[in-house]
Amino acid sequence: NTMKKKLIAGNWKMNGGLAANEALLRALREGLAQQAPACDVAVAVPAPYLAQTQALTAGTAIDFGAQDVSQHEAGAYTGEVSAGMLRDFGVRYVLVGHSERRQYHGETDADVAAKAQRALAAGITPIVCVGETLAQREAGETEAVVKRQLAAVIHLNGHCISEIVVAYEPVWAIGTGRTATPEQAQQVHAVLRGQLAAASTQADRIRLLYGGSMNAANAAQLLSQPDIDGGLVGGASLKAADFLQIIAAAR
Ligand code: G3P
Repeated sequence: NTMKKKLIAGNWKMNGGLAANEALLRALREGLAQQAPACDVAVAVPAPYLAQTQALTAGTAIDFGAQDVSQHEAGAYTGEVSAGMLRDFGVRYVLVGHSERRQYHGETDADVAAKAQRALAAGITPIVCVGETLAQREAGETEAVVKRQLAAVIHLNGHCISEIVVAYEPVWAIGTGRTATPEQAQQVHAVLRGQLAAASTQADRIRLLYGGSMNAANAAQLLSQPDIDGGLVGGASLKAADFLQIIAAAR
């Protein structure tokens, strides 16, 4: 494992509001000013709050991102937000292919790849999410599923795979309080790393995040696995104290 900074990213999902966001971001700012984090820190916020987040994180160690992006450049796509629009607000990251988007919005691997491509073209780092459902795990399909999902983004036109971040989020661990064990997570991360290594000499530089019920109590063990380079944190990222503890565990 080469030296690379871990990344702890919070995914707020469809939570928050002006007052709650301000309180959370201020608490994070204060906490980070005290702890001098060893890792990179980001929050992925609902699109209407990008401007607020940009203002409240300016000059701090907190990067921010969006939770989705359109696969189209511009035009008659009612309700969608383009990568160029995200860039207007200084967005650094965007989640693509979160399992909730795949599940509730029918996003396919091809959609996810198109979104990652749009993000990269706009200078935004896509955090590509992969992960198996419980049924797929029980059927022994975990490896095949995550490999298929990752394969879709491995050859993005004109871009080097090392420009992306990958998040492994087993669907059965999301919001359930049921975390993958460090060994289970590491096993899948090693598979993903191997797949990346077969495609690129830069594979070691790509950050592989774990997501799924990561919290202040289990973060250190997960983050000490050789191929876990950070976390994508849902519920626990909404509480400043918990998120700060996870950040402190990322050394
Ligand atoms: O993207 C992060 C997420 O899906 C994990 O959610 O609430 O289980 O940490 P949570």
